Amino acid sequence: MYYDWKEKTNTEELRVVCNLIRNGEIVIFPTETVYGIGANALDASAVGKIFVAKGRPSDNPLIVHLADKRKIKDIAEDVTEVEQKLIDNFMPGPFTLILKRKPIIPDIVTGGLNTVGIRIPENIIARGIITYSGVPIAAPSANISGKPSGTNIEDIRKELEGKVSAIVDGGQTSIGLESTVVKVVDEIPVILRPGKVTPEDIDKVIGNVKIDKNIFRKINMNETIESPGMKYRHYAPETSCKLVYCEDELDQIFYLKKYIKEYKGDVVVIGFDEHKDKLFLEDKRFISIGKKDDLDGFARNIFSNLREADKMKPYKILIEGVKKEGLGYAIMNRLIRTCEHDMFIL
Ligand code: TXA
Ligand code: MG
Repeated sequence: MYYDWKEKTNTEELRVVCNLIRNGEIVIFPTETVYGIGANALDASAVGKIFVAKGRPSDNPLIVHLADKRKIKDIAEDVTEVEQKLIDNFMPGPFTLILKRKPIIPDIVTGGLNTVGIRIPENIIARGIITYSGVPIAAPSANISGKPSGTNIEDIRKELEGKVSAIVDGGQTSIGLESTVVKVVDEIPVILRPGKVTPEDIDKVIGNVKIDKNIFRKINMNETIESPGMKYRHYAPETSCKLVYCEDELDQIFYLKKYIKEYKGDVVVIGFDEHKDKLFLEDKRFISIGKKDDLDGFARNIFSNLREADKMKPYKILIEGVKKEGLGYAIMNRLIRTCEHDMFIL
């Protein structure tokens, strides 16, 4: 069933959706980061349906969503002082903390790890569904494994309709990139996946932060790493993509033009408004990612823009990159995976 709650949550329908969750069904719902496919995290067979719907590898653990900080102790233990500080400062919000799990969380949720990722979303629809279901909700991003995450229902309806029991439409998600994933190791917060909560934000609160070295690296399939999700192909449309980023503005235009020529114009450029006229492309070959200084807009629209570019089936999608600082870390982390490490950076 499709439920339109863009204007406002329908309480009668909310009851239906929460009953589906309690009865072991899976449901697409919005959060402020991206849409999720949710199931009762305490019900292994319900969670199994998520892996089937997404075609997701079983060793990639899911994040468990709660509506209330006081519930964290029901599913995790031994919360340290640093972890508590992170909880106090960044939850609810676009932030996931990896904690030691309690046995109540089934193995299928954590991919057999002794930890569990916990997130408390801020989005009002997500909070309503978690609260009235009365159970923690395991939810990965709503997309077929390897494809860009869903940030509006139109983008994901075709690929997931028929595979879930309900789709709740809350409009475009406000952030557009998945949550920042953090694990505290030796009292230092380590960012396993960058997001809207930036290294700078965490450093301000804890006075220390590390970024996992794997964030910008290519991972071999047989490697064991902290965040298993990092080794899989991610965020990628069918069309092959290339990331182009030069610190110098003139270089940036020069190399974009060079690649456009190299691919004989059979490209779609996802680029900044300021660069459109300088590239001499037909309108349909340029998708605006907004103004150069608007990183929030970039993050909000990137997955949708990738899907739009993909529909045109060019030989190459060229994507402009950004500086790796603040939200730029998260943007570049996703784009490097989208482009499967095909990039030109100067
Ligand atoms: O914003 C988000 O986090 C969205 C919304 C729906 O909440 N969810 C999301 O889930 O992005 P997913 O499954 O697409 O990504 C979860 C990431 C994966 O990279 C996974 O490897 C990592 O979190 N993760 C989950 N549990 C973990 C754990 N116990 N240890 C290390 N990494 C974990
Ligand atoms: Mg995902």
